[in-house]
Amino acid sequence: MKLEIVSSLLMPLLAAAVPTSNPPASEQPPAFTVLASRSASPIHFLPLNAAGQSFWLGGSPQTYCPLSSGCPPGNQTVLAGTGAALSVVVPGGQQIYVSPQGALKFTQAHSMNIPPGSSYGPFEYIPGAPGSAFGYYTYSGWDTDGFMACPTDDSKWQVFAALQNATVPSGSVGDCLGFSAIAVPTNQTGNVWQYI
Ligand SMILES: *[C@@H]1O[C@H](CO)[C@@H](O)[C@H](O)[C@H]1NC(C)=O
Ligand SMILES: *[C@@H]1O[C@H](CO)[C@@H](O)[C@H](O)[C@H]1NC(C)=O
Ligand SMILES: *[C@@H]1O[C@H](CO)[C@@H](O)[C@H](O)[C@H]1NC(C)=O
Repeated sequence: MKLEIVSSLLMPLLAAAVPTSNPPASEQPPAFTVLASRSASPIHFLPLNAAGQSFWLGGSPQTYCPLSSGCPPGNQTVLAGTGAALSVVVPGGQQIYVSPQGALKFTQAHSMNIPPGSSYGPFEYIPGAPGSAFGYYTYSGWDTDGFMACPTDDSKWQVFAALQNATVPSGSVGDCLGFSAIAVPTNQTGNVWQYI
C-alpha cells in the first residue's frame, strides 16, 4: 500500500527519465537501474553505482575493459534479474551480497569469494503499481527490510542494508539515511564487461 502511494507521487517525475521502449514494470524485467528516493534529503534521486566492490549513491560506476576492441560505455550500473547480481559480460558474472558489516557488496570478476558470515539475500524486484514504469529493489535478509546510505569522510554515500548493527564509516548508524530503492527496468543488459 505504501509503495503504491509513493509510486503514484513519483510517476510524473520519473516519466521523463524512463524510455517508453522498456519492458513494463509489472513483470520481472531482465535488468534494472536503481535510484534512491528519500524526499527532502541530499540523496533524493541519486543513482546507485558499483565501484570498489561496494555500492554508492551518486558518482559513477568503476569498470574495466580487457578487450582491445573496446567495451560498451558502462556509464550506469545495471543489476540483473532480482538484483542478486550485476548485469555483466565477464564469464561467471558478479554476485551481490551483504557483508558481515552490513555493507552492500559485489564479488570481483573471476572470483566466487564472499566473506564468511555474509548474507546472500533475499534480494527482490517488486513490481510497481499496475501501469507504473518502475518497481522497487529490496533486500530482506537478517530480519531487515531495505537499504540505507551512510556518509563517508570523503563526502560520498555508501550503501548498506538497513541494519541497526551495521559497521558504518562514521561509526554511527544514526548518521545514515534510509531510502526507498526505485528500480527502473532496462533491457540494456551487459552494458559493462566487469565492475571493479
Ligand atoms: C552513457 O554514454 C552513452 C554513450 O556515450 C550516452 O549516450 C548516454 O547518455 C550515457 N548515459 C548516462 C547515464 O550517462
Ligand atoms: C545484526 O542484526 C541482525 C538482526 O537484526 C542479525 O541477524 C545479525 O546476525 C547481526 N549481525 C551482527 C554482525 O551482529
Ligand atoms: C528493449 O526491448 C524491446 C522489446 O524487445 C525493444 O523493442 C527495444 O528496442 C529495446 N530497447 C533498447 C533500448 O534496446
